[in-house]
Amino acid sequence: MYQIPDLKQIETLRHIAVLTSGGDSPGMNAAIRAIVRTANHFNIEVTGIQRGYSGLLDNAFVGLNSENVCNLIQRGGTTLMSARCKEFHLRETRELAVNNLRQRGIEALIVIGGDGSLTGARLMEKEFGFPVIGLPGTIDNDIYGTEVCIGFDTALHTAVNAVDRIRDCANSSEHFHIVECMGRNSGALAVHTGIATSAELILIPEAPWQMDEVCHQLYQLRKSDRATSGIIVVAEGGSTGVSYEIQQQLALLGIDSLVTILGHIQRGGTPSPNDRLLASALGNASIHYLMAGYSNVMVGVERGRTITSDLADVISHRQSLNDSTLKLVAELKPWF
Ligand code: F6P
Repeated sequence: MYQIPDLKQIETLRHIAVLTSGGDSPGMNAAIRAIVRTANHFNIEVTGIQRGYSGLLDNAFVGLNSENVCNLIQRGGTTLMSARCKEFHLRETRELAVNNLRQRGIEALIVIGGDGSLTGARLMEKEFGFPVIGLPGTIDNDIYGTEVCIGFDTALHTAVNAVDRIRDCANSSEHFHIVECMGRNSGALAVHTGIATSAELILIPEAPWQMDEVCHQLYQLRKSDRATSGIIVVAEGGSTGVSYEIQQQLALLGIDSLVTILGHIQRGGTPSPNDRLLASALGNASIHYLMAGYSNVMVGVERGRTITSDLADVISHRQSLNDSTLKLVAELKPWF
């Protein structure tokens, strides 16, 4: 299990809140459960905020305790529900949110989500001095300050399982299958899925590619009979539907292909054991760090330990794919 450094308790907290924000990810419930159970262990009351920052504005507060987080660890999604809250971009909205928390005697907030969610948390602390701790929750696995985010492992299992099934069809029907993975600005899910399923081609934003070039190369392959079928895994990279663009280009060259957009299937479902363990460790650690007086940090993991990173650093960087991953893709690819 991840090691938490020795921390000296300096804060006597009585009441904290937790919310999940942005795209839900499997394991968020396990994190909520660990936060509540650990807080209750130290006699700290926990309020859950529903629908992320929107609930903070609408006063959608619910009491959480050790009993009502039973049977949660194995459930996908987030019991607190999640939302993307555009109004939170405004300073006056954030001020209202902080006032709502203070009026209830809430002394700190734990935010579980991706970079947009962590940006909101950082601003609440920077502008109004409200103590916050962030936890990385996104299937995109693109958060700086942690080796892995809550939800990535489950999403990877789901995507690999889906591509293995598509592979059966590709082999049988001699088609190119284009499979699109989620990842707004990151190819992490796509590249790991592609490697694990021996995809013949992996297209990710981290290794820039040209539509014309790729389609022409596929055309040459098909013409030479070197490849009659294959899996092309592509990261959505910004907008869903890039796979249809590839399909259309191929069609212009006389090549039929089939598209599967894995979509939200990747986000839902029972969290994997690794995600449950990661989320439990991070949820637990977040309370220990709060009691030790930490604020304005995200808790992540690195080499078997929990670590903290300043939220300003977290949101100004992006977790990039390491060189070895990109080399692996280049050195294992069968075609071009
Ligand atoms: O950030 C997580 C994520 O699942 C991305 O991979 C994807 O681009 C986006 O959320 C989809 O968001 P929504 O569910 O709001 O369409």
